[in-house]
Amino acid sequence: MMTTMMVIWGECILMTSTELLHQFDDLAFPKPFGFDSFTQADLDLFLTDPSIWSFGLKKERGKGILYGKCHTDLRCQLVNGRPQAERLKILGDKFRFFRIAEKLHLMVRDPISFTIEDIIDIGMGNSVYRVTLRLDNGQAMDVVVKQEEWDAQSFFSRLLLDLGWPYYRSSHIKDNYGGWQVLDYLGHTTIYDAVMDPDSHDELPYIETQLARHAALGDILGRGDRHFENYLVRDGILYPIDVSFLFWDGSEEWVWKYIAGGMSEYTLLSLAKTEADFNQRRASFWKTYLETLKDLATQESLICRHIEECFGEKDPLTPVKTAFVHERLSDYQAFFEAQQRLYDDAFTEMVRRKKMKSQLQAWVSAHSHDLDEYPWLKMYYLADRDRFSTFFLLEDRDEKMLLAPLQG
Ligand SMILES: Nc1ncnc2c1ncn2[C@@H]1O[C@H](COP(=O)(O)OP(=O)(O)O)[C@@H](O)[C@H]1O
Ligand SMILES: [Mg+2]
Repeated sequence: MMTTMMVIWGECILMTSTELLHQFDDLAFPKPFGFDSFTQADLDLFLTDPSIWSFGLKKERGKGILYGKCHTDLRCQLVNGRPQAERLKILGDKFRFFRIAEKLHLMVRDPISFTIEDIIDIGMGNSVYRVTLRLDNGQAMDVVVKQEEWDAQSFFSRLLLDLGWPYYRSSHIKDNYGGWQVLDYLGHTTIYDAVMDPDSHDELPYIETQLARHAALGDILGRGDRHFENYLVRDGILYPIDVSFLFWDGSEEWVWKYIAGGMSEYTLLSLAKTEADFNQRRASFWKTYLETLKDLATQESLICRHIEECFGEKDPLTPVKTAFVHERLSDYQAFFEAQQRLYDDAFTEMVRRKKMKSQLQAWVSAHSHDLDEYPWLKMYYLADRDRFSTFFLLEDRDEKMLLAPLQG
């Protein structure tokens, strides 16, 4: 029987993949909810068929179904927990099938060659691989490779470079196997990890400042999906990752949804311990936000030139993108005021939801055996556990019905 190592509370425990799959069963949902468990056949197919790139969660799209860290940890564990030689063989076969080594050359310029020393899955809902390369000059290099059709990421990284902001390398390639993103590996520290780590407490104000800057830039570019797992912190510097939605029509509506769901830059302010602390952090957020808008307004022509260069002057959507930016920067003071109103309104909603999150946690402590009867409650409980998020997309649900069991 295949075994896999799992570290729990610092102890090494041998887990079979069957045991891991059983653990996943407890975290999945009875049909027809739309978030199924993995079967042994799913796993075997992924492990034996090199043409299957991702071991993705079996979740229906478009239904607002959310997953938790527990799901992604187990999903990765089913792949990464295998002995290294076996894992390298399985993932190496996939890399050969999809000709990944050629794409990695985007990060390692000829004539330097390399060998692949290790591959692990660091993705959330789908597989995203961290690859450790050994260059022929002896140096080690970690890069990330991910399937991605639209290349918003490289546009964004290069813009960061042009603006003089911290940036990382990112390349995109399209071939017969689809679209691929290859990126510098930025470590594993999410905002949540940074906030929870007492050693990085001194860095927090600086992280909040950088979040405010990225909130402003994100709003100007209509960058979506800016939740806390799409930022990483390395050496105190904040890096936005997973840039896939830009110039999104209705972007502000999504900003509201993410703040109300406790998973956007501004929601970190809810960690303030006192009213005075909150007021000070809020003032500092908006000061940085406004300064960033002002700064970006002076660089509007650079941003628009960059859009034209990246997406092509002749592309009919390019003027739509530059107009998107212009609309927001031309009267940035009015935009600033509108965003303040929007952010604060969503924040009030988030505070209300945080209370419900505590209520749900207390209810589960007392009634954990009942949780399977209420799949949406179970989903929110698992999705929000060990995260700052709170009832994301609740506005799309029937709140009264959803929360009725908590009242009883
Ligand atoms: N460049 C990177 N450096 C380090 N970790 C990364 C990097 N890119 C992605 N990751 C990790 O993989 C996870 C999933 O990648 P992401 O690009 O966000 O894909 P998805 O579209 O599936 O959310 C991220 O939340 C992060 O933990
Ligand atoms: Mg992501």
